[in-house]
Amino acid sequence: MTFPKHQITAIMGPSGCGKSTFLRCLNRSNDLLPEVEVHGKVWLGDQNIYQPRTNIYQLRARVGMVYQQPVPFPFTIFENVVFGLKMAGQTDAKLLAMRVESSLKAAAIWDEVKDRLQEPAQALSGGQQQRVCLASVLAMQPEVILLDEPTSALDPTSSASIEQTLIALKKDYTIIIVTHNLQQASRISDQIAFMLNGDLIETAPTKTFFLQPQQPQTQDYLAGKFG
Ligand SMILES: Nc1ncnc2c1ncn2[C@@H]1O[C@H](COP(=O)(O)OP(=O)(O)O)[C@@H](O)[C@H]1O
Ligand SMILES: [Mg+2]
Repeated sequence: MTFPKHQITAIMGPSGCGKSTFLRCLNRSNDLLPEVEVHGKVWLGDQNIYQPRTNIYQLRARVGMVYQQPVPFPFTIFENVVFGLKMAGQTDAKLLAMRVESSLKAAAIWDEVKDRLQEPAQALSGGQQQRVCLASVLAMQPEVILLDEPTSALDPTSSASIEQTLIALKKDYTIIIVTHNLQQASRISDQIAFMLNGDLIETAPTKTFFLQPQQPQTQDYLAGKFG
């Protein structure tokens, strides 16, 4: 399948069908798990990311990941946002400060935290922590953002602000989000990929997916036949 540039693709399917595993293939996070074997190719532009010469750190800077549970490091908000940049060797204090501001603004959390950047990120609410995690990914200036059920641990208000943020971000980024929330997918995505038991069953523009699903398994899923 293809993930069109500057669009939001939602990956859907019942729990356990392999969504997270597939998402992790897209920035080689599965490399960290010795038992995982990956077959096939993943193209980022004209580069197959599974070719042996790929620099994993550069790849993960280009293809950032936001996880299901917001897990900021036990540092200040500022240090969380610049963590990846510092790991990559960036030491220019002025650049780091500018990147913190622009990333927190893009993640729609700047106004809430700008006066408390030196406070622990873990003192924030779940929704705020999730946006700080998103800002940490944006600080690396990625091209693609992967999100694995980023709102499943959040209240409806926080979820709505994450959704609004993603819609605003897609003009600059290609976004791939795993969600098992049909309403969320219909609100924010441009295309949907539906998985079942490890297989990709159907990919379609969001409207077509809901109104004219082609595969019987998709129709069953939309009718609520799987978990
Ligand atoms: N392609 C695959 N081949 C073998 N096992 C897989 C594959 N994809 C997922 N799994 C396994 O299936 C289980 C559920 O996968 P996961 O990606 O967590 O599903 P989901 O995110 O859709 O709930 C995990 O134990 C995972 O290791
Ligand atoms: Mg999952």
